[in-house]
Amino acid sequence: ILNLSKTNKNYPPGPWPLPLVGNIFSLNMKRPYQTLMELNEKYGSVFSIQMGLRKVVVLCGYETVKEALISQADQFAERPDIPIFWQITKGNGIIFGHGDSWKTIRRFTLTVLRDLGMGKKNIEEKIIEESEHLVKQFEKQNGQPFQTTIPLNAATSNIIVSLLMGKRMEYEDEIFQRLLIMNNESFTLTGSPFVQLYNMYPMIHPLPGAHHKVLQCQDNLKAFFRKIFIQQRELLDENDKRCYIDIFMNKLEEEKSNPSSYFHEWNLLCTVTNLFVAGTETSSSTLSWALLIMTKYPHIQKKVHEEIDNVIGGSTPRIHHRQMMPFTDAVIHETQRFADIIPMNLPHETTTDVNLKGYFIPKGTYIIPLLRSVHRDKNHWKNPDEFDPQHFLNEEGKFVKGEAFMPFSAGRRVCVGETLARMELFLFFTFLLQRFSFHPPAGVKEEDIELSSRGGLTLAPLPLLLRALPRHTNT
Ligand code: HEM
Repeated sequence: ILNLSKTNKNYPPGPWPLPLVGNIFSLNMKRPYQTLMELNEKYGSVFSIQMGLRKVVVLCGYETVKEALISQADQFAERPDIPIFWQITKGNGIIFGHGDSWKTIRRFTLTVLRDLGMGKKNIEEKIIEESEHLVKQFEKQNGQPFQTTIPLNAATSNIIVSLLMGKRMEYEDEIFQRLLIMNNESFTLTGSPFVQLYNMYPMIHPLPGAHHKVLQCQDNLKAFFRKIFIQQRELLDENDKRCYIDIFMNKLEEEKSNPSSYFHEWNLLCTVTNLFVAGTETSSSTLSWALLIMTKYPHIQKKVHEEIDNVIGGSTPRIHHRQMMPFTDAVIHETQRFADIIPMNLPHETTTDVNLKGYFIPKGTYIIPLLRSVHRDKNHWKNPDEFDPQHFLNEEGKFVKGEAFMPFSAGRRVCVGETLARMELFLFFTFLLQRFSFHPPAGVKEEDIELSSRGGLTLAPLPLLLRALPRHTNT
């Protein structure tokens, strides 16, 4: 247990690393979070491992993750440089941005998204309009089994697309379809064992491998947005506030005489691609989980249907209905807890030497705040490994938000799109359950549906075809 290569005696304990390879042979490369959960049992809530040449400290359980990300927020606010992401943004944009550039662009983005209506009526209307398009896609299947992920992906993507570009795209649009496929592929490949290996040993760059495909997908996404910038610029006037891209472009104009400004063309491109990527797959795979879980547990689906019928009936679902729908709200929260789509969070880095739970962690350490260990924390959840909406309900059936609920993380890097995503999840889910009941394909039993993930950067469920049968409400 004692690691002699670590000079400071208060450095967190962990398994003995081999020279050059560290602990990679004991890591489950397809599901690394599972190995980290096992090491949590063995070494406690703060432990260290070595991934290739990189020393990593893993934080486990609600109390520890909270103490780091919230109580010592500034000390844990940085991101490490990860080879694949460095190739894509060179440290610009928000997700893998650093220091003052990150702070400036993140603050600007939050303000602009709020001004464009994130969390307000304006976005509610957009999601409602998009829900109608989504319902039509489901109706078109005529009750036959189909892959729900594809239309869900398009619907969630269209919300961020209309914030960025001021207009939605048609599901049938070939360019839109290609963007979504590329984004999806890039997500899956980024989490693949080969790309993880590349992140540990970037010197393997020249070898053929999945990292080239990821970079190609990202180049194509950037090329798409570059074309959009050219179109938007032709129409731009300084008072334009139609969309994120216009507002950023006006800021570029304003700051063009300042050579040290963070508002430059490359930061615009990286930030817009960041928002597109972060805002699409995450919300849509959460919705895929929700529909799959409803299909597996018809008795839970029935209770959601009943609540929708009682509270909304045949009228249009709206955000204000949420507070009258504790069961549906609990099902959505429990889906996020159980599906835990970003189990290892995004990595953080310490900005200074830190003391945490009696351990010494040097400045510049790569940190994994293990969200899986928060969402499965035995001290906070009664049935951590089961899907159980009661986790978010009290004895009177009222909604209660469990403390150890952090799907959007917490602290300085907390998800920029949390408010938007929460609106999307409630409205899309409620619209779909108002209009349809979900069933497995003929011949597949509910109890045989497997609730496991396909791996990748975010954990989407294993693809399963579902049947959406219209419910005969008076809508
Ligand atoms: C970061 C989750 C939707 C934009 C993150 C992080 C998580 C997360 C766990 C990492 C936080 C950290 O490093 O501590 C989710 C989930 C979503 C979702 C579960 C949907 C269910 C969205 C949407 C947007 C978005 C819709 C678009 C506006 C971002 C950005 C970051 C981020 C820009 C980087 C923040 C930073 O580094 O400062 N998200 N997200 N996310 N998310 Fe989301």
